[in-house]
Amino acid sequence: MLAGSASCVGGRGMTRWWIPLYIVFSSIMEQLSPSPLKHFVQAKKTITAIFEQLLGYATEGAEFVEATFKNTELDNIVTEDKLSEIQAYKTKLAVIGEMLSRRHMKVAFFGRTSSGKSTVINSMLWDKVLPSGIGHTTNCFLSVEGTDGDKAYLMTEGSEEEKSVKTVNQLAHALHMDKELEVGCLVHVFWPKAKCALLRDDLVLVDSPGTDVTTELDSWIDKFCLDADVFVLVANSESTLMNTEKHFFHKVNERLSKPNIFILNNRWDASASEPEYMEDVRRQHTERCQSFLVDELKVVDRSEAQNRIFFVSAKEVLNARMHKVRGMPEGGGALAEGFKTRLQEFQKFEQLFEECISQSAVKTKFEQHTIRAKQIIDTVKNTMDFINVAAADKRVHAMEEREDQIDRLDFVRNQLALLTEEIKRRIKEVTEEVATKVSGAMTDEICRLSVLVDEFSSDFHPASQVLKVYKNELNMHIEEGLGRNLADRCSHAVNASMQQAQEEMIAHLKPLLPFGVQYRLHTLIPCRKFDLSYDLNCDKLCSDFQEDVEFHFSLGWTALVNRLLVPNSTRKVLLGFAEPTFQVPRSLPTTPSAASVPALSRDNISSQEELMMSIVTGLASLTSRTSMSVLIVGGMVWKTVGWKLIAFSLSMYGVLYLYERLTWTTKAKERTFKQQFVNYATNKLQMIVSFTSANCSHQVQQEMATTFARLCQQVDVTEKNLAQSIARLSAEIDQLEKIQSSSKVQRNKAVYLEKELDGFARQFLQWNT
Ligand code: GTP
Ligand code: MG
Repeated sequence: MLAGSASCVGGRGMTRWWIPLYIVFSSIMEQLSPSPLKHFVQAKKTITAIFEQLLGYATEGAEFVEATFKNTELDNIVTEDKLSEIQAYKTKLAVIGEMLSRRHMKVAFFGRTSSGKSTVINSMLWDKVLPSGIGHTTNCFLSVEGTDGDKAYLMTEGSEEEKSVKTVNQLAHALHMDKELEVGCLVHVFWPKAKCALLRDDLVLVDSPGTDVTTELDSWIDKFCLDADVFVLVANSESTLMNTEKHFFHKVNERLSKPNIFILNNRWDASASEPEYMEDVRRQHTERCQSFLVDELKVVDRSEAQNRIFFVSAKEVLNARMHKVRGMPEGGGALAEGFKTRLQEFQKFEQLFEECISQSAVKTKFEQHTIRAKQIIDTVKNTMDFINVAAADKRVHAMEEREDQIDRLDFVRNQLALLTEEIKRRIKEVTEEVATKVSGAMTDEICRLSVLVDEFSSDFHPASQVLKVYKNELNMHIEEGLGRNLADRCSHAVNASMQQAQEEMIAHLKPLLPFGVQYRLHTLIPCRKFDLSYDLNCDKLCSDFQEDVEFHFSLGWTALVNRLLVPNSTRKVLLGFAEPTFQVPRSLPTTPSAASVPALSRDNISSQEELMMSIVTGLASLTSRTSMSVLIVGGMVWKTVGWKLIAFSLSMYGVLYLYERLTWTTKAKERTFKQQFVNYATNKLQMIVSFTSANCSHQVQQEMATTFARLCQQVDVTEKNLAQSIARLSAEIDQLEKIQSSSKVQRNKAVYLEKELDGFARQFLQWNT
C-alpha cells in the first residue's frame, strides 16, 4: 500500500486551512525551544559572511599587490609569485564561499527493505512526503531538500525538469515498476521549507532502497555517503540486526573516519503485544547494537552508545503528528500500548540526532575551510608585512639618498658661489699679468724698431709707385717681425700662466661636475691651442705716413730757418702753412716736412752749424729787416770784410752744396726714408701699446671666461640632475608612504578577519584560540 503524499499538498479543501496553522505552530515552537540545527544554520551564516568579507579583502589585497607590482619605479617591493599567490587566493576564496553557501547537513537512512526508512523520514518531516508501503517500495535514492517556494517538485538525476510533486506517488510506482531505472540513481524531492522546520534548517534527508536489494554497496557509498554527516540505520525490531545491514556499515566505516551512526529499532510498537518479553528483547537488541557500534565499528564508546540506540515506532509517530497537525489528539495515532514512551523516545532521538548532526556538520563542513581561510589570511598578512617592510626599507633608503642629494645640492651651490669669486679674482690676476707682460714686451720691441726696419731690404726708388710697394712690404715686414718677437717674448709665458689658471679652475670645479663629465674633462677645455693675437695692423697704422725724400741743402734757406731761428709756429708760417700758432698740436706724429740732410750724421751737422754760424746769423737777421736795411747791412759788410772773404765764403758754400747734392743718392734716400718711417712708426706704435696689451689681456680673459662658463654649464647640469633626482626621490617616498599605509591597512584588515575566524572557531568549532 502506498501512502499518498501528494494528497498533503494537493487540492483537498482540508489542507487549505491546516497548513497556515501548522506553520504558526511550528514557528512558535521554534521560538520556544530553538532547534539544535540552528547551530549549523548560524555557523553557516557566520562563516559565509566571513568568507564574503575575506573575498572582498582578497580582491582588494590583490588589486593593491598588483598595483604595487606594476609600479615600475618601485621594483623589488613585491614579487610576481606573491601577486600570483594572492590572485589564486582570490579565486579559491570565491569558490569556497560559493561552496559554503550551498552547504547543508545531510542524513542518510539505510536499512533492510520495509524496515520503515521512508516512514521514519516522513515522521521526521511530519508529513507523508515519501512513499512507503509493504514490500520493496523505495526503488532509488530520494533526497528530500527544502525549497523557498510554496510548490513541491522533484528532479531526476541528469534532468533539469522540475516535475510536479503530485506525481511523486506515480513516480515512486514508476521507479518501482520501471526496471530500466537503476537502483543507484538519485531523485531530488524539493519540499517547501515553510511546511517543515527541519528543511528550513538546511537539513537534507536521503532515503535509500533496502540494503538487501543491491550488491553495489560500494558505489552507493561513493555516490551518496561520503558527504553524509549522520547515518541512521533503521532496523526492524521484530527481528535481529542482519548481516546485510552490518555489512553496509562496515563498508561505510572503512571509507569514512568514525561516521555518526544512529540505530533506530523501528516497529517497537509490535513489542507491546508481548510485554513480558519487551525488556529482554530491548536489552538483547541494545547489547547487539552496542556491540556493533562499539566493538565492531568502534565509532563510539560504550557510554556514548546509549545515546545512539533507540526503540521507536515511526508509523505511530507519523500518525500522531499528522493527527496533531490536523488539530486532532496525538494519541489518536497510537498503534499499541506505551505510545507516549515510544513517542518520547523518538523525540529524544530527534533531539540527539539534531545536536549530533549540527555539531558534526559544522565541523566537517566548515572546519577545514576555517583552517584554510586562516592559512590564507596568514599568508596574505605575511605578504602585507613583507610589502610594508620592503617599502619601509626602500623609503628609509630613499630618504637618506634624498638627504644626501639635498646636501650635495647645497654644497654645489655654495661652493660655486665661493669659487666664482675666487676664479674671477684669478682671471683678473692673469689678465693683468698678461697686460703688463705684453705692454713691456711691446715697449722693448718699439725701441728696437730701427733694427727691424734696417733688416728690411727691398728695391727702393723714390718713384711713387715703387715707394707704395716698398711701404706695403715694409709694413708687412714690421707686422710679422713685431708679431714674431712679441710671440717669442709673451706667448709662451702667457699660455703657461693661463694654462695653470685653467687647470686650477678645473681642479676647483671638478668635484661639482657630473660624474660622467669628471672623466672627460678635456672636452671642456677648448681643444685649439690658444694663441695671442697682437693685431698690430701696421698697414693701417702707418697708412698716412708721408715720406720726404726730396733733396734739402743743409745750409739752404729753409733748413737754416727751421733749424736755427724760427720757432715751430713761425717755421710753419714760413713754410706756407695757414694754421694759426695757437692751434692744438696734433696728437699723431706728423709726417716729416723738412728732413735734415740725410747724407750727414748729426755730428756733421753740428760742425757745419758752428762753421756757418756767423753767416747764418747775418742771413737770419736779414729776414727780419726791411729791404732797405738789407742794402745798408750789405754795404757795411762789403765795406768791413772786403770782397775776397765774401768770394771765399760763397765758393765754400757752393762746394758744400755740390758735395751734398752729389751724395744724395738712392741709398741715402732709402736711409732717410727708413729713418723717417722709424720715427713715425715708433710714435704710432707707442700710442697703441696700452690698446694692444688691453686687447691681449682681453683675449686671455675671454679664453678663461669661456672655459669657466663651460665648467659652470656643467655645474648647472649637476644642479639640474640633483634637483631632478631630489624630485624623483620625493615622489618615490610619497608612493612608498602610501604603500606602507595601505599595506598596514590591509594587514589590520587581515588581523580583524583572523579574529573573526577565531571567534567563529571558538563559537562553532570549540577551538581554544
Ligand atoms: P523499502 O523502501 O521498500 O526499502 O521499505 P521501507 O524501509 O521504506 O519501509 P516503509 O517505510 O515503506 O515501510 C514498510 C511498511 O512498514 C509500511 O507499510 C509501513 O507502514 C510499515 N511500518 C513502518 N514503520 C512501522 C512501525 O513502526 N510500525 C508498524 N507497525 N509498521 C510500520
Ligand atoms: Mg522506503
